[in-house]
Amino acid sequence: MSLLFEKFSIGDLTLKNRFIRSPTTSYWSDEEGILRDPIIEYYRQLAKGGIGLIIKGHSYVSEKGKAHIGQSGLSSEKHIPRMQELTDIVHSYDSKIIAQLNHAGYTSINDRVTASKYVTEKWEARELSLEEIEEIIENFSIAAENAITAGFDGVQLHGSHGYLNSQFMSDIVNHRQDKYGGSFENRIRLLTDIYNATRKKIGPNVIISVKLNCDDFAENNGLTIKDSIQIARILKEKKLDILEISGGGPEQVLEIRKSRGKAPEGSGYEEPTWGGHAKKIREAVPGMTLALVDGIRTRKTMDNLLNQNIVDLISMSKPFINEPNFVELLEKGQEKASCIDCRKCISRDNFAKTMLRCFHKHP
Ligand SMILES: Cc1cc2nc3c(=O)[nH]c(=O)nc-3n(C[C@H](O)[C@H](O)[C@H](O)COP(=O)(O)O)c2cc1C
Repeated sequence: MSLLFEKFSIGDLTLKNRFIRSPTTSYWSDEEGILRDPIIEYYRQLAKGGIGLIIKGHSYVSEKGKAHIGQSGLSSEKHIPRMQELTDIVHSYDSKIIAQLNHAGYTSINDRVTASKYVTEKWEARELSLEEIEEIIENFSIAAENAITAGFDGVQLHGSHGYLNSQFMSDIVNHRQDKYGGSFENRIRLLTDIYNATRKKIGPNVIISVKLNCDDFAENNGLTIKDSIQIARILKEKKLDILEISGGGPEQVLEIRKSRGKAPEGSGYEEPTWGGHAKKIREAVPGMTLALVDGIRTRKTMDNLLNQNIVDLISMSKPFINEPNFVELLEKGQEKASCIDCRKCISRDNFAKTMLRCFHKHP
């Protein structure tokens, strides 16, 4: 039998298979960040469709750190009741669910802040004070506590895609002179302080994951594979439960993104965008539970990633927008996702204008 449909345990949590739905915002919560009905219905479809672990789309940890209109919140107790409905429904299908927590930093729609004053053609943000950083760390831990109260099986800290944690880790953005800037150890301190505060708040037995860039794919500087390996080592020491390997940080260059982390042709896992980088993390940090996301589409690649021990868990986002029951379809023999990567689900025309859907399938 394929490893894909075998159970996997992380601490006290047992997943029924190796599939993760990578966090994907539905961009359809109300003005207060409270879930609307279509979101809950969508998660029912995902859970019913057989996914082992669902990571809910990012929720803001404070109004100030909100990334976009329609984003859900976990900053306040007012968010808990509808989140509880969501987790109850997911659990009723024997699926597990964790909540991704985020602060958007200089991309926030409410307060553009980051590690140091940051001005580019696209962005303008001011530097956070030490007191504000401490408040953000506390916001993450409180949001985590709200998530656990709402029935989530754990949380994921967003450490990628150019949001606040990713901004602090990048030496392109972070020129601070205090303990949160300068050396590599200082630049990753925000993430490790958030991790420590969250772990303290929700306890040793609850799942904590980090979605981390393996590489910012920036032209000069930014986080590189050497750095991400080091971060993975540090997080493993701190008993992180799952590292989800992603990529793309501040000042990412698309051409570099497409090539620098690839596995070689013929490896059997050249399909994901950074399978080569994933292998390096696996070899350098044995024993860390790894998930890989971005570009995985075929059954063959999924099997190869597990059989060659590159990662433990297969994570996907867009395929589950097109086919919420993709896991079930794979089990019945479908060979690949029907998603054609048209990216209409994330285009400016559709984003936060209506509930998330596959706009190719349902124009
Ligand atoms: C509509 C949409 C919403 C997304 N929302 C999030 C999010 O909330 N948090 C996150 O970490 N990534 C988010 N992503 C990125 C995905 O989780 C994933 O990393 C990316 O789409 C690559 O995986 P894929 O090739 O399987 O789609 C989003 C992607 C899409 C298309």
